[in-house]
Amino acid sequence: MSKISVIGAGNVGASCAQRIFEKGYADVVLLDIIEGLPQGKALDILESAPILKSDSRITGTNDYRETADSDVIVITSGLSRKPGMTRDELLLTNMNIVTEVTRNVITHSPHGIVIMVANPVDAMTQLAWRTSRLPRNRVFGLSGVLDGARLSTFIAAELKVSVEDVSPCVLGQHGENMVVIPRLTMVNGTPITEILPPPTITRLIDRTIKGGAEIVSLLKTGSAFYAPSAAVVRMVEAVVLDKKKILTCATYLEDEYGIKDTVIGVPVKLGRDGIEQIIELALTGEEKTALVKSAEAVQQLIKVMKLN
Ligand code: LAC
Repeated sequence: MSKISVIGAGNVGASCAQRIFEKGYADVVLLDIIEGLPQGKALDILESAPILKSDSRITGTNDYRETADSDVIVITSGLSRKPGMTRDELLLTNMNIVTEVTRNVITHSPHGIVIMVANPVDAMTQLAWRTSRLPRNRVFGLSGVLDGARLSTFIAAELKVSVEDVSPCVLGQHGENMVVIPRLTMVNGTPITEILPPPTITRLIDRTIKGGAEIVSLLKTGSAFYAPSAAVVRMVEAVVLDKKKILTCATYLEDEYGIKDTVIGVPVKLGRDGIEQIIELALTGEEKTALVKSAEAVQQLIKVMKLN
């Protein structure tokens, strides 16, 4: 059985742990610095096993030694946004937390695969990759799977079709500079540009870009976790089940798309080795320019962290 550790037992972390546990293909360790919190949540999840018929194990802990030899480590630690904040405003606080967490994680699982969820996720992925010294295929972050799910939800509702028929194309920064490509966003093989009028497309894209903020403004006390945790599990599953799925993830680019030394969301093939291939879509000049601009926004954060 694979071993997955989830760091941070807040809403996103606990939901990830629960979803992975319920799938039954991995043992789960839920870690948090708050005493009792991961233990309590893990025990509660464990006690659902006889009803759900899961033979996985789940433990809660404050001790990184219990995460030893994890196949995948999901990092959700850090603050989330309050209403009115951008993800970028979390940079300096979460930078310290993510650095420490990554060091601890790598000490005990030097061959693991790290999936970053803490925001601003592109910058935090780059920080974790640098800190871990792992090859770039083993450190990536949650972005396009979540953003694409939001876009698909809105398109399906607009057209009154099944969400399963929508195939989204969302690239770039998980934030204000997200790059939605309508030309490559399909409903059963037809681009939405041929089905929806431009103002509708603009409205749905705008709602997608502000999707996280919309939830934050409703919840007032935290950010989204149901869709984010579902998206993380899709990524975890692609790795532990070696599915070779093409998913958009926050990925360190070395010259793909003409972008250097920057983590940004692009489609990748995920399997047992993590990122097994970076997919370079044939973008138009305009689309490429938008992606480069998105990367520049991430580079600003990298500069503030003095990573380069
Ligand atoms: C969101 C957070 C996870 O988009 O960034 O809801």
